[in-house]
Amino acid sequence: MSEQTIPTMGFEEDPELQAFQQELSGAAGSEPIDVRPLPRVSITAFCETPQIQATIDAIGKDRRMARVHLKSVSGGIQSAIEFFSDTPTPNLILLEANLSYDELIVALDRLAEVCDVGTKVVLVGHVNDVQMYRDLVRRGVSEYIVAPVGQVELIQALSDLFVSPDSEPLGRTVAFMGAKGGVGSSTMAHNIGWSITASNQQDVIISDFDVAFGTAGLDFNEDPPQTIADAIKAGERLDDQYLERLLTRCSERLSLLTAPAVLDNTCDYDAEFFTQMVELLQNSAPYTVLDLPHVWTDWSKALLLGADEIVITAVPDLANLRNVKNLFDMIDQERRGERPPHLIINQTGMQKRPEIKAKDFAAALERENYVEIPFEPAVFGQAANNGQMISELGSGAKLVELFDRLACDITGRSETPKASKSLFAPLMQKLKKSK
Ligand SMILES: Nc1ncnc2c1ncn2[C@@H]1O[C@H](COP(=O)(O)OP(=O)(O)OP(=O)(O)O)[C@@H](O)[C@H]1O
Ligand SMILES: [Mg+2]
Repeated sequence: MSEQTIPTMGFEEDPELQAFQQELSGAAGSEPIDVRPLPRVSITAFCETPQIQATIDAIGKDRRMARVHLKSVSGGIQSAIEFFSDTPTPNLILLEANLSYDELIVALDRLAEVCDVGTKVVLVGHVNDVQMYRDLVRRGVSEYIVAPVGQVELIQALSDLFVSPDSEPLGRTVAFMGAKGGVGSSTMAHNIGWSITASNQQDVIISDFDVAFGTAGLDFNEDPPQTIADAIKAGERLDDQYLERLLTRCSERLSLLTAPAVLDNTCDYDAEFFTQMVELLQNSAPYTVLDLPHVWTDWSKALLLGADEIVITAVPDLANLRNVKNLFDMIDQERRGERPPHLIINQTGMQKRPEIKAKDFAAALERENYVEIPFEPAVFGQAANNGQMISELGSGAKLVELFDRLACDITGRSETPKASKSLFAPLMQKLKKSK
């Protein structure tokens, strides 16, 4: 291994820099350097020494970390492997590693096996070696920080990972559109958005693009004064901080950008403006649900085709079948090589209504994968009247299972345990309780 040290991280080598670092450590709250606040990400830290645990706990109180779900526990990389073997991984795992280089590489490979797609790993190590740093980065470690690390230095490193202008957008977008009006697309969008927060423990922003008639506010029993209409009004002045103020937090991990549901404007918006707004949303949370109305305009088409994942909801009749076919053909043509859209066949089994059986509906589209949601007016009606999601009601467990399955399919995160190991059962219990 090389004797060279890591230039930017080697504070302990230089007394002047060390003093500066200590000054920064004590100064969380004051702002000696420009550190951008972190978005709605989840971070779990595994700490081997009380010093690092104290630093992690201290940064959790910093205002720039206010939107972050930060959890710290004592334990090293082995504890992380055990814990995440049957639990979804957060957006970032921060590990204090006191292992030799060879042990570290073996442990990281095992950790990689239990990590969900998109999870970043940052190491805090005690060896200052450039070659090791390079090797780790090549293996997919996002950052290697040499201990001791100051609070501001650590926040800066984490912030750089998520808010750097050069990096890919943080979050993924999921666009929901109905094959016809009133088929339940918004209901699906809201319940599946909720499922992503609950079963995948990821932050979600639901944005209601049905400016004149949207129901996101009603469905979540929220009536905020600020809405998507304010974003449209802001035009070029819209930036991440402004947009942040327009969001309404309606659960620990769910935020809403509601529609004003007034008829002040018709729905001819600028596609480019909405695309930029979605980019801002994408940098604020790991998932943004785009609840699109059943309209076909430049902007709705651009948002649908530009989304990372598309969910089309249809009811089982001929007009819906024709419309889904047209939508699928167009999506297929415009997004070659990307994942095909998800299909929900909704409101099946409605009494006295003739319908195309879900499997025939899917067969006509040459689709094997689809989710069938039964017509359950009592459950959906009660949820709508209460301004609640189905999983908040006592009834509807079967429906919740379907929403969770779709949420996992959309996010690509595993629903079933990744492995079954129980060596660290007490630690796992402790972590689960603190969620
Ligand atoms: N599976 C279902 N069983 C019974 N009722 C349902 C079901 N799915 C949705 N609904 C109800 O259908 C109504 C319309 O749903 P929703 O507003 O989500 O449709 P939409 O496709 O978004 O409509 P719009 O075209 O107005 O945007 C709501 O009252 C909702 O509660
Ligand atoms: Mg709708």
